[in-house]
Amino acid sequence: MYIKYWPLPTHTTLLSALLTMQPSNPLLPPLLLCLLVTLRHATAADGCLAAEREALLGFKAGFNLAGDGGGSNPMSLWQGQDCCGWPGVACRNATGRVVALDLHGWELQATGRRTISSSLLALTQLRRLDLAGNDFSSSRFPELSFRKLRYLDLSFTAFSGGRLDPLANLSSLHYVDLTEALSPGSYRIDHLRWLSGLPDLTHLDLSGLDLANVSDWFSPVISLNRLEALYLEECNLSTIPISSATVNLSSLVVLDLYNNSIATVLPDWLWNLTSLVHLNLFQSGFAGPVSEAIGDLTSLESLDLRYNSLNGSIPSSISKLTGMVEMFLHANDFGGVVSEAHFSNLTNLEYLWLSWNDRLSVSLRRNWEPPFQLTEVGLGGVLVGPQFPAWLKSQTGIRRLDLWGSGIEGALPEWLWHNVSSAVNISVDLSGNRITGKLPPSLEFTKLTELTLGSNLLEGPLPTELPASLGSLSLDNNSFSGHLPPWPYLNALSLENNKLEGSISSLCQSTSLQLLVLSNNKFTGEIPHCLGESSRGLQSLNLGNNGFSGTIPSSIRFLTGLTDLELSNNGVSGEPLLLLENCTMLSYVDLAENRFTGIIPHWIGDNLPALIYLRLRSNMFSGQIPTELAKLQSLQILDLASNNLSGAIPATIGNISAMASSQATIFLLHPIDLHVYSKGQDMYYRQSPDLVNSLDLSSNSLVGDIPEGIGDLASLGSLNLSRNRLTGKIPQSIGGLALIESLDLSMNLLSGNIPESLSSLTFLSYLNLSYNNLSGEIPSGHQLQTLEDPSIYMNNPYLCGPPVSKSCSSNVTVTETESSEKEYGKNNSDLVWQCISTILGFVMGFWIFCGVIFFKDRWRHAYFSGMDKLFDGIFRQ
Ligand SMILES: *[C@@H]1O[C@H](CO)[C@@H](O)[C@H](O)[C@H]1NC(C)=O
Ligand SMILES: *[C@@H]1O[C@H](CO)[C@@H](O)[C@H](O)[C@H]1NC(C)=O
Ligand SMILES: *[C@@H]1O[C@H](CO)[C@@H](O)[C@H](O)[C@H]1NC(C)=O
Ligand SMILES: *[C@@H]1O[C@H](CO)[C@@H](O)[C@H](O)[C@H]1NC(C)=O
Ligand SMILES: *[C@@H]1O[C@H](CO)[C@@H](O)[C@H](O)[C@H]1NC(C)=O
Ligand SMILES: *[C@@H]1O[C@H](CO)[C@@H](O)[C@H](O)[C@H]1NC(C)=O
Ligand SMILES: *[C@@H]1O[C@H](CO)[C@@H](O)[C@H](O)[C@H]1NC(C)=O
Ligand SMILES: *[C@@H]1O[C@H](CO)[C@@H](O)[C@H](O)[C@H]1NC(C)=O
Ligand SMILES: *[C@@H]1O[C@H](CO)[C@@H](O)[C@H](O)[C@H]1NC(C)=O
Ligand SMILES: *[C@@H]1O[C@H](CO)[C@@H](O)[C@H](O)[C@H]1NC(C)=O
Repeated sequence: MYIKYWPLPTHTTLLSALLTMQPSNPLLPPLLLCLLVTLRHATAADGCLAAEREALLGFKAGFNLAGDGGGSNPMSLWQGQDCCGWPGVACRNATGRVVALDLHGWELQATGRRTISSSLLALTQLRRLDLAGNDFSSSRFPELSFRKLRYLDLSFTAFSGGRLDPLANLSSLHYVDLTEALSPGSYRIDHLRWLSGLPDLTHLDLSGLDLANVSDWFSPVISLNRLEALYLEECNLSTIPISSATVNLSSLVVLDLYNNSIATVLPDWLWNLTSLVHLNLFQSGFAGPVSEAIGDLTSLESLDLRYNSLNGSIPSSISKLTGMVEMFLHANDFGGVVSEAHFSNLTNLEYLWLSWNDRLSVSLRRNWEPPFQLTEVGLGGVLVGPQFPAWLKSQTGIRRLDLWGSGIEGALPEWLWHNVSSAVNISVDLSGNRITGKLPPSLEFTKLTELTLGSNLLEGPLPTELPASLGSLSLDNNSFSGHLPPWPYLNALSLENNKLEGSISSLCQSTSLQLLVLSNNKFTGEIPHCLGESSRGLQSLNLGNNGFSGTIPSSIRFLTGLTDLELSNNGVSGEPLLLLENCTMLSYVDLAENRFTGIIPHWIGDNLPALIYLRLRSNMFSGQIPTELAKLQSLQILDLASNNLSGAIPATIGNISAMASSQATIFLLHPIDLHVYSKGQDMYYRQSPDLVNSLDLSSNSLVGDIPEGIGDLASLGSLNLSRNRLTGKIPQSIGGLALIESLDLSMNLLSGNIPESLSSLTFLSYLNLSYNNLSGEIPSGHQLQTLEDPSIYMNNPYLCGPPVSKSCSSNVTVTETESSEKEYGKNNSDLVWQCISTILGFVMGFWIFCGVIFFKDRWRHAYFSGMDKLFDGIFRQ
């Protein structure tokens, strides 16, 4: 690459001129002299100066070119005498001196600590240095001394440590880009005074450098009054002067403060930057109103104020910004009304984003004819309805339409479907409105890629034809009915909570499904065998709460990318767990309330290491709980209740580390309901980060002792071992369940004293120890004092002391017959008591629980199912 800075005649052009001249020509002597001079320069330029070549070779030696395919790197061509011909090197033709070095994006890796300083500094004529996108993390930031340097790009070089001060000597600089030029944590910057040595700077980019310690970043920057572009993205800035009489950035065209935390109002001087074309304050922390003076920024083409918390109304003076193309005002706290007055002169507007401004409304006449043609419209969460905005009819080039939660009622206009048929790649989200009516029988003629109409009042059949472009269709929470049509192209389909019925065998046509959510419908028939064959890319499969029957298809064993599997509450049989051997990505498995059988395989601990949630409740799983289950280090919710499991609780149970560590957060790839049976009732959480960890092994035929290790599960919120045949004592270690809120050990054969340590469980709000063989004095004090319902302890004839009526001072003998009555269900009166006590216990627990919900934030996000489930749970036994 050659760059010519000053045009000079070359010797060949001069020579040809001379040869055609008369000897008497008076121009001959000066031209001859000129030829001699240019010939001398030409000789110098034939190769570069030896010293500069050596400097470049020294620089090259600082990189590791051998490994990592380095042979193909352009730098490996740095060979031979004429360094001016090397890639990335540019010389001035006349002098042969290196003037530019451009290694942009060569992905070189420097090995030396002083790779630049020690060698390159010999290139004293350098005007342009671009090392962007090479890894200098082993080197310190260089002390450059190129006094003629005008252009310096060291972005994404990640120098490790060093100081920026020496840049002050590069007084010719016009352009400086230091985006992520330093590795985080390796440096400290406490001033930007070096900027005052660079009076000609027009472009300054310090994005990604932590300037939090710079006490006054502003003064040095505003001293640069030729500045045209200023980028300070992610600089950790927290201050900016609000009013300053000295700001003279009259040439500034770009101001970018994206992602800082400047917690002030928008500064006054901003509105004096009348040359601004791009103003980016995306997520920079500003608050307060936007001044009407924004109308003075008449050159503005892009205005990005999204994700601050700006309030007040949107100034009507934006109508003066006639060059505006992009307007991103979403995710603020704007209120008031935007009307035609705001927009009627914005003829160039393409991107209009006002979403997530809850108190904002849009009022435009029905017959208003907008002067613009929008590409993206974001009015989600802004009051637009009740009528569908008629002015959108003229907008035929829309690629993205966000009108979710915008108060729209009634049927969708027919023209909408035609408007989304002209451009390509169109995404439409109209969810969370009160849209009624039916969808067209075919949407094949549209160019939709994403269609979201969830949570509306739509009904009727699903469209039978979809365009091949459509990848994602979400029609959750409507009243669609009828059958599932064959839709071959979708990769995400969500139809949760509708009234759809019939078989889902039409899914055999789909080959690219990744997400399939059909829960809460009335689908019937078998889960088609083809599912595991045709959609091997499935990650999320949710068929819960339908009427599926038959055997689980063996083909689900091919769904090795599955992360969520939800089949609960159907009538499916078979041995599903054995099929999941190779589905190693699974983190959520809910097979509850089916007719599933088979054992819990021992390899579960090794093969499903990502499992967070395993719910097998109310099936007919049998055999022992494998010891290896405890290898599931991420498991936070384990519900094996109401099966035919036998044998002992594995002694290893205390090793499940997610139940032992204090963090109880669940993040699933796709949001799914999480069901936890706790405090005597079913609770439903929607992907809540503050869910309680839970272990439920109730209603099986487990025998033996409660393992000591159980006390290691310090972050368990709910433990239910009731309705088994557990014997022995309640382990003293139970006091280790520091976060336990619900503990149910009722209806076992536990004996011995209630350990004192139980009274130290400060979060305990639901306790049930009834129907056991416990004896001795009930511990008192601390939390146990608040649990004073005697039904907690009922049918433990040897227990004494408050809250049970029997006093510990009188010794009572209990006969064999009495104790054998604890074989519940044998005795009618016993059963009645059992019901009454459970209800009492529930009422008690419920009110305590309500109190907890009321006062405890983490529970407020939870919501519960109806009472029917609850009573179902109580009377099921
Ligand atoms: C400089 O020299 C190179 C190589 O001879 C040539 O391609 C280029 O055009 C020259 N530049 C100017 C401006 O003459
Ligand atoms: C920069 O200039 C100052 C003063 O002229 C000088 O002391 C210093 O050594 C120079 N730094 C470099 C890196 O050349
Ligand atoms: C900021 O100051 C703190 C405390 O003096 C120091 O530890 C840290 O390295 C500095 N960070 C930067 C980026 O200057
Ligand atoms: C921002 O600055 C604060 C306070 O100086 C510091 O604690 C924090 O680590 C910085 N954050 C980043 C991302 O540099
Ligand atoms: C602002 O800077 C520009 C360009 O350097 C200069 O022409 C103008 O006079 C300055 N204005 C003031 C008020 O300092
Ligand atoms: C904002 O910057 C911080 C670092 O300062 C980074 O961790 C975060 O991801 C950025 N946020 C966005 C939305 O880019
Ligand atoms: C902004 O411009 C107005 C009018 O030109 C002037 O009165 C005011 O002093 C300027 N403000 C700043 C901070 O420069
Ligand atoms: C739009 O521009 C015209 C012509 O410049 C002007 O007369 C009119 O007042 C402007 N409308 C608004 C709402 O600013
Ligand atoms: C899992 O993969 C192994 C090895 O490919 C294979 O032998 C086994 O049958 C697979 N298991 C299931 C359930 O498909
Ligand atoms: C109960 O009886 C035993 C033996 O008869 C006696 O040692 C004990 O003190 C009595 N307990 C109470 C509380 O009276």
